[in-house]
Amino acid sequence: MFSEAMGAPDLLNPERRMLRAMQLSEPDRSWDLESLLAACEWTDQAVAVGAGHGLQNHGFVAVDERVLREISLDLGGDDAHKNGLLEHRIWSWMNDHEDEHPPTMKGLQEAFERHEAGPGVGLLKQLGVSIEGGLLVASNPDEITRAIAERTDFLTSLPALDDTLDQSLLNHFSARKNLIKVVERTVRHWSLTAEGQHVSSDDLQETVVISELTPELLQGEAWKSAEFRAFDVTLEAATPRTGRSHPMQALIERVRSIFLEMGFSELVDDYVQSAGWNMDALFIPQDHPAREMQDTFYLDQPSSIKLDDDVLQAWKSIHEHGGETGSTGWGGTYSTEVSQRPLLRTHTTVNTIQYLAEHPNEACRVFSVDRVFRKEAIDRTHLPEFHQIEGIIMEEDANLQMLVTTLKTFYTKMGYPEVRVRPAYFPYTEPSLEIEVKWRGKWLELGGAGIFRPEVTEPLGITSPVLAWGMGLERLAMLVLGLDDIRQLYISDLEWLRNQPVL
Ligand code: PHE
Repeated sequence: MFSEAMGAPDLLNPERRMLRAMQLSEPDRSWDLESLLAACEWTDQAVAVGAGHGLQNHGFVAVDERVLREISLDLGGDDAHKNGLLEHRIWSWMNDHEDEHPPTMKGLQEAFERHEAGPGVGLLKQLGVSIEGGLLVASNPDEITRAIAERTDFLTSLPALDDTLDQSLLNHFSARKNLIKVVERTVRHWSLTAEGQHVSSDDLQETVVISELTPELLQGEAWKSAEFRAFDVTLEAATPRTGRSHPMQALIERVRSIFLEMGFSELVDDYVQSAGWNMDALFIPQDHPAREMQDTFYLDQPSSIKLDDDVLQAWKSIHEHGGETGSTGWGGTYSTEVSQRPLLRTHTTVNTIQYLAEHPNEACRVFSVDRVFRKEAIDRTHLPEFHQIEGIIMEEDANLQMLVTTLKTFYTKMGYPEVRVRPAYFPYTEPSLEIEVKWRGKWLELGGAGIFRPEVTEPLGITSPVLAWGMGLERLAMLVLGLDDIRQLYISDLEWLRNQPVL
């Protein structure tokens, strides 16, 4: 412990100043924040609180800390203060009502808006109004008037300290929405201890303490004899609350920068598309179950999207008998009407395929991160609107190995180096792959990939192999953010959003 002979062990400057100021006044004075700030010539209360805390740790100062609860009007309370409490207004209306005695429920519903009439009746019932055959009947009008006046007086008395208020009314208003709010305030008083009184004023001279290293300082000699400010990195500090991107947006940016870095260009396109490009171009048969109304969002407006006759005829021949590809096609009769039905794209492959149709002979690497729509029931792992990470590589020597390497590179850059592919089936690719990533010891399926079939490429005049993939962005977000419910991404849970890592 402290002994007089020891002097003041390494006090910080604010602590020295505060202790000195306290020593200069009566020894048993109790200091409040304002007098302390004035005596030390400070404006920032955090400095005073910090110095007081330090002196307390040294045993030189005693701190008396009390938490006060101050009750004040919240938004709804301000309004009630100006215009009267809801029960007050309804009660006045009931009493003013001359032509119709006693007042009716119907009259109430006409005189007050729905959002007031409902809760208002509840409040009146609690006060003793009953509804009898559509009439509002008060058996104890004086008591009601009194209770309402008491509530009004309570609100008028705010702001006030918790323990000065009637607790049953306080409970009543705490249970109602937005009328009152509680603000907790810590009030401190500081006083010298016997030890604090005995610290020698010689030890309380403020020293020049260097808190920042500058090149000028290091070039001279002064630093050799200077005192350096120590930082206590174990002290609690507030986390700065600044604006930031939503984690989904941050993830999209990261995916983008990875593909850009890998030499891809970004494709952005509309989500209103024709069934022809969304499905027929990809050799998805016209009677495929995924094309049904219960799986795909079709649009009423426009009633159809006009497609080029050449392309319709090419798809017709591919679908009916395989065109020139040697395939047998799907058989049956192909409908150009079905082709021209508008829909919300069910995958972003609808856009890469159109890009290829426009540039059938230019080697390319294209990606997109964009929204798609499927008629899914919302649950822990499904949303009707979600995002896909889509991509294609068209090159003369493109092959399966290149596809797998590209996907592995992407996921490795995302932080998931363990990637495997498994055989899968899509009507538009051969071979077709499923991409899986290892996460917490388990393999998770994140998307599909493959090489476009001739039934897809030939009608569009594409001659080089096209590697293609489409992967779920929300699935990836669940891994990155460690979520087990996909819905968390889109509810505006501010506390959760603030605590998400920077991606
Ligand atoms: N379009 C597929 C899907 O939505 C993914 C995919 C894209 C598969 C490209 C193969 C090639 O799941």
